[in-house]
Amino acid sequence: MSDIQIKIDGKVCQAKEGETVLNIARRNNIFIPAICYLNGCSPTLACRLCLVDIDGKRAYSCNAKAKDGQEVITQSEEIENERRAIMQVYDINHPLECGVCDQSGECELQDYTLEMGVESQEYCIRDTHRPTQDWGLIHYDPSLCILCERCITVSKDMIGDNALKTVPRGGDKLDKGWKDKMPKDSYATWNKLQKSIIGRAKEIDPQEESGECVAVCPVGALVTKDFQYTSNAWELTKIPASNPHSSDCSLMYYDVKHSSIDDSKPKIYRVSSEYSFAPLNGAARFGYDFQNECEGKDEKAFLHVINSFKNGKIKQVEFSSFITNEEALILQKLKDKFGFKLVNEEARRYQEFLNHFSKTSGTSLYNGSIDEVKKSNFLISLGTFLRSDSPNLSYAFNNALTMNKGAGFYFHPLGDKVVEGFSKSVKSVQHKVGREEAVLYLLLDKFGDKDNMSSVLKEHLSSLHVEKEKEVTKNIKEKVVETVKDKDGNEKEVSKMVTKKVAEVVKFQTTKLYEMMGVEDLEDDFKTLLDKKDKFSLIVGEDLILTKNSKKLARLLGLVQRLTPFNVIIIPTNTNTLGVSLICELDKKEDLFTLGYNVKSDITLSALGKGDLDMPALNQQEGTFTNLNKRVVPTNVAIDFKGYCLNDIANALGLHVKYTIDYTHMLPQDKGYKSKKFDDLPNYFDNGGVEHRGYELECFESECESFDEELQIEVKKDDLVYKANPINQFSPFTNKSHILQTTALLHVSDEWLKKHKIEDGAMVKISNKNHKIALKVKKSDNLTGLIPYLPNFDTKVDVSGFFAQSRYASLSVEEIK
Ligand code: SF4
Ligand code: SF4
Ligand code: FES
Repeated sequence: MSDIQIKIDGKVCQAKEGETVLNIARRNNIFIPAICYLNGCSPTLACRLCLVDIDGKRAYSCNAKAKDGQEVITQSEEIENERRAIMQVYDINHPLECGVCDQSGECELQDYTLEMGVESQEYCIRDTHRPTQDWGLIHYDPSLCILCERCITVSKDMIGDNALKTVPRGGDKLDKGWKDKMPKDSYATWNKLQKSIIGRAKEIDPQEESGECVAVCPVGALVTKDFQYTSNAWELTKIPASNPHSSDCSLMYYDVKHSSIDDSKPKIYRVSSEYSFAPLNGAARFGYDFQNECEGKDEKAFLHVINSFKNGKIKQVEFSSFITNEEALILQKLKDKFGFKLVNEEARRYQEFLNHFSKTSGTSLYNGSIDEVKKSNFLISLGTFLRSDSPNLSYAFNNALTMNKGAGFYFHPLGDKVVEGFSKSVKSVQHKVGREEAVLYLLLDKFGDKDNMSSVLKEHLSSLHVEKEKEVTKNIKEKVVETVKDKDGNEKEVSKMVTKKVAEVVKFQTTKLYEMMGVEDLEDDFKTLLDKKDKFSLIVGEDLILTKNSKKLARLLGLVQRLTPFNVIIIPTNTNTLGVSLICELDKKEDLFTLGYNVKSDITLSALGKGDLDMPALNQQEGTFTNLNKRVVPTNVAIDFKGYCLNDIANALGLHVKYTIDYTHMLPQDKGYKSKKFDDLPNYFDNGGVEHRGYELECFESECESFDEELQIEVKKDDLVYKANPINQFSPFTNKSHILQTTALLHVSDEWLKKHKIEDGAMVKISNKNHKIALKVKKSDNLTGLIPYLPNFDTKVDVSGFFAQSRYASLSVEEIK
């Protein structure tokens, strides 16, 4: 990073042209006060505290793009007076509630009031009664709100739900007389503060609430209802960890202290995060207390498990991907020793997909990441119900659209109004089910390097080209003659040119692929959306993996990575699917005596506390995950576990490794892991936002196999139901947490309810020839189209019989009268 140089308070700082002065200062550990600015989001200039002097002129450093040779002064008497007056304004009528306020101890209003040396108050106005508001999982107190608008900014530029806005506050108007009695910026800040409070632009379902607005609020105006009045912030110990519920594995902290006066057991009071650099999804924010509270070691059950391994009874071990890399390695080592089948169908599918992908991409891993998505300006999402499968990738998708003037396509049979609302430059394309293959051919046709493509594939793509006709409206100039009267009343003819719209039929080149997808022609959309775009990302999800033609789709995707400018991300289905798929040799499931780890089996080891032997949940474990950014990230113990863990079983079976984390440096190097010890793995972001978390996997290159298969369209029936969870649910572990606990429902659109003449909330029977369940329907305001979705997070509603081969199942849905 050395494009340009600027001086801040005399210190020479290297920077990239276009970086803001505030970010350069932060990266160089130079402090500039700033409240309203959120890293990675657009500056709102709401607080004006970041005022600096650039080459003799006042400027706001969060908004000022650096230019080579600039000299910045961050402090002067004038600047300090202005900042002090702004803080005084923020303190006007601010309730003296620090003693009971949840933010006390980590409040930016407290901090900056002291920092700026506010010791008196010259400004005053009659206070306005502003009642507190209940926003589902969140509590808003407008009297504590300083209208920095961070909550609005994060919901618009990061989360993308555009859930908040300013609304009139009511009460006295600010007397203009103050204008001459106070510094200019502080008057403007006060005027704004006096006019508005924050309101909800729309209701957010608690199962979709990210809680990020609470994380970014600098004061106690927004708090989670669950945390309110439960603890002082400074009493909580922050345990650095990684999101255990989804494959972003974002950095988070379990905030822990004793349970109560009488109970010294540690309890998680909330989850906090580094909101400036890594947003946290709602599952991580609210689904924190899923620990397995077991009373002690159940020696009898433990010995039963050990003996069942030793006497060869266990022929198969089945497990889920909600485990650490180290546990996956333990299972692989036990497989090597005892020769049982090792089964994790979801990770095996992912593993197979990645292997086929590598055959044509020539790389062991995909090349995309959340950071790459954020840097992109042309984005495509394919084969994923994105906000549910990977909320953090949907944040990055939205962030790139809003911050980079990006554009893109969201290809999915289920329409999502929230994604459609990300930007006017995102086109939602509800193609027919099973037509993802046509989209990949389209990307190869439009963006592929034809010189390096097999001639068969090239010819196949051009055989799909066709010339079509369309009607366009054109403006033409036409001469018209009118008879007018002059001032003496004599008629005369005058001619003038007028613009007229005429329809015209024109020919254009396109491809049959659109018809095959079952959508309108997108040639014009591509032309418009691609204008001035040069950084491309493609996100694909489980729809491409859990389907009959996944091998072909993986190979096509490999070609897209190799032959087009797109960076590709293949969303790992569960928290550690990528890790498991790299570490374990996985088998197909057979009808054998099975030990299940977090999967109900003949003998069940369960972190949910419902099995034959209790195991620790992921908030009770030290270890690492391999996240969707292909990074190995550490997580730590928030709550002690009193029972046995997998390493105890492994030790009793002769593996002899003292702690589970002693396996961290043994993770397979031929799969890209490094010989690094757990204690040497960092887990933080520095002031400049550089991620120091674990390490990145090494990606290997290999020879590419050729691919010249032709497109084949899979025709699916109409009565389809899709497998997807509500946004904050990922597994029985999120559903165990007390805030998120709920029951499975069939999520349907308004259109679906009308077509089936079924009321919201009605009970329905869902069945195929082997399996049936009964549950309620729930209207989702964000869903469009006629395909409902059915979740798999609820252990009481077994949907596995429906979705073994595909994410789309042909099911009958009948109302139970
Ligand atoms: S928001 Fe800050 S200053 Fe206001 S009451 Fe809470 S802790 Fe005190
Ligand atoms: S609620 Fe918090 S984040 Fe939102 S404007 Fe008020 S103080 Fe700022
Ligand atoms: S941080 Fe720059 S105006 Fe608020």
